[in-house]
Amino acid sequence: MELKIKNISVTEIKSDLLIVNLFEGTTLPGGATGAVDKELSGLISDFVIKKEGFTGEFGKTYLLAVPNHKIFTKILIAGLGKRDEFDLNRLRILASKIIQKVIQTDNVKNVVSMLHGAGCAGFDPYGCAKVIAEGTMIGSFTFDKYKSEVKEVVKTFTVAEIDKKNFEKASEGFAKGILTGETINYARELITEPAQHVTPAFLAEIAQSLDLDEIKIYEKVDIDHMQMGAFSAVAQGSVHPPKFIHMEYIPKKAKKKIVIIGKGITFDAGGLDIKPAASMLTMKNDMSGAAVVLSIMRNIKKFKPEAEVHALIAACENMPGGSSYKPGDIVTAMNGKTIEIENTDAEGRLTLADALCYAQQLNPDAIIDIATLTGACMIALGNVASGIMGNNEEFIKKILKCAKEEGERLWQMPMYPEYFENLKSDVADMKNTGGRGGGTMAAALFLNNFIQKDTPWVHIDIAGTAVIDRAILENTKGATGVGIRTLLNYIMSE
Ligand code: BES
Ligand code: MN
Ligand code: ZN
Repeated sequence: MELKIKNISVTEIKSDLLIVNLFEGTTLPGGATGAVDKELSGLISDFVIKKEGFTGEFGKTYLLAVPNHKIFTKILIAGLGKRDEFDLNRLRILASKIIQKVIQTDNVKNVVSMLHGAGCAGFDPYGCAKVIAEGTMIGSFTFDKYKSEVKEVVKTFTVAEIDKKNFEKASEGFAKGILTGETINYARELITEPAQHVTPAFLAEIAQSLDLDEIKIYEKVDIDHMQMGAFSAVAQGSVHPPKFIHMEYIPKKAKKKIVIIGKGITFDAGGLDIKPAASMLTMKNDMSGAAVVLSIMRNIKKFKPEAEVHALIAACENMPGGSSYKPGDIVTAMNGKTIEIENTDAEGRLTLADALCYAQQLNPDAIIDIATLTGACMIALGNVASGIMGNNEEFIKKILKCAKEEGERLWQMPMYPEYFENLKSDVADMKNTGGRGGGTMAAALFLNNFIQKDTPWVHIDIAGTAVIDRAILENTKGATGVGIRTLLNYIMSE
C-alpha cells in the first residue's frame, strides 16, 4: 500500500472510498465532512446521522455506498468520539481501526482520507498527519510472505488537505509518521519470522548491513575472552553460535550517550528446564527486544537524534542438549559476580547481565533494556501494559512520560529490596530465580546487580505486550513492536 498526502480537496480527488469523520453528537458536520455532506445533498446529516442514528462514537464507523457519484463510490464515516476526549493518541488508534475496516471492505483499491483532527478540532496538522500515517501503517501490517495466495488489498491511501499552510506542516508530519510506522513494522516482521531463519547469525548479518558509524560483532571466542560467562552459558546448548552485537550511532557534538539493550533469545525452549509445548509455541518471539533496538538503529540516521546511541544485543538460543548449561551450575558474569543456575529457563536475565556489564564500560549517561523477560509480567499486567523498573526515579518518570506522549502503556513496578531475598544463594553471589511470587521485580533486582549505582537505568518488561492474541488499542493481533515509540521519543528528546 502506498501512502501519500496531497494538497487538494477531498471532493476533487477520485477514489473507491472516501474517509470523513464525525465528532460524537454532531448533527450538522462542518469542515471536509460538511463539504462532502453538501456534495451528497445532506446524505450524511439527514440519513446517516438522523435516520440511521450514527452518533460518531469513538472508533465506530459507518460505510455508505454512493454508486452514482462521479468522484467516490463509497464513503466511510469514522467516529472521533467526544470532542474533549480527543487527542493524537486516540487519532492513531482510530487511523488503525479505519484501515482495518477498509481492508475488510470489498472492491477498494484507492482510498482518500481527510486529515482528521486538523480542521474543526484544531489539532496541529503536523501531529495529526504523523499519527494518521503511523496508525494506518500499524493497522495495515500483514505477514504473508509464506502464504501462497495473497488477497489483493488497498493500493493507495491518500490524505487530502486543501489548506495550503496546513498541508505543508502535515507533509512533514506524514513523512515522520511513515518513518516511525516503517520502524515499527520492520520490528514486527523480524519478531514474526520463525526461529529457523532468525538465528543469532541472522541478527548479526542484519546489524552488519546497517548504515551506522560503527558495528562490532563479537564471536563466541570474543564473548569468552570478554568473560561473559553468564551469556556464554545460556548459548552453549545450541548448535547456533552466539553473537554479541554492538551498533553505534555517533553524531558530532553529542551531549548525551545512551545505551539501549534488547533481549535477543532467538528461541527459548527453556534449556534443560524445558518448557511445556503450549509455552514454547510462541518462543520465536523472545527476541522482540532485540528487534526493537535493531529496527531503531536501522533508521536512526533518518531520525537524526543529537544524542550518541549505542545498541546492544546478546543474541543466542536457549536449547536443551548434551552441552547445555545445567541447573546447579555456577557461572561468572563479566563483572565477576557469580550466579547459581536454579532454572535454565530464566536465561534472559543472564544474557542481559553481561550486556549490562558491557554497557557500563561505555560510560553512558543512561541505559535502557527492553526484554520479554518474565511470564509473571504478563500475569500482572496482561497484554495491555509493559512493566518498567529501574534504579533512578527521575529517569523512570522521564521514560513514563515519553511512553504516555506516544500512547504506549507502561506501568511502574516496585524495586523493593525484599524481592531479592529469594535470589540469595548458599554457594554463589545470587541465584537466577527465586520462587513464584513477584517474578518480574525479582528479575529486575537481579539485573540491578550488573548496574553501577550512579548510572541511570531502566528495565522494560514486554513479555505480555510484544505479541498479543487480539487487537488492543492501535495494535493488531500478533507482534506489536511495542517500545519503539517510547524509546524513539526519549532518544529524540536528549
Ligand atoms: N522468555 C520467557 C518469558 C516469557 C514468557 C516471555 C511468556 C513471553 C511470554 C523467559 O525466558 C522465561 O522463561 N521466564 C521464566 C522465568 C522463570 C523460570 C523464573 C518464566 O517467566 O516462567
Ligand atoms: Mn526462558
Ligand atoms: Zn526467554
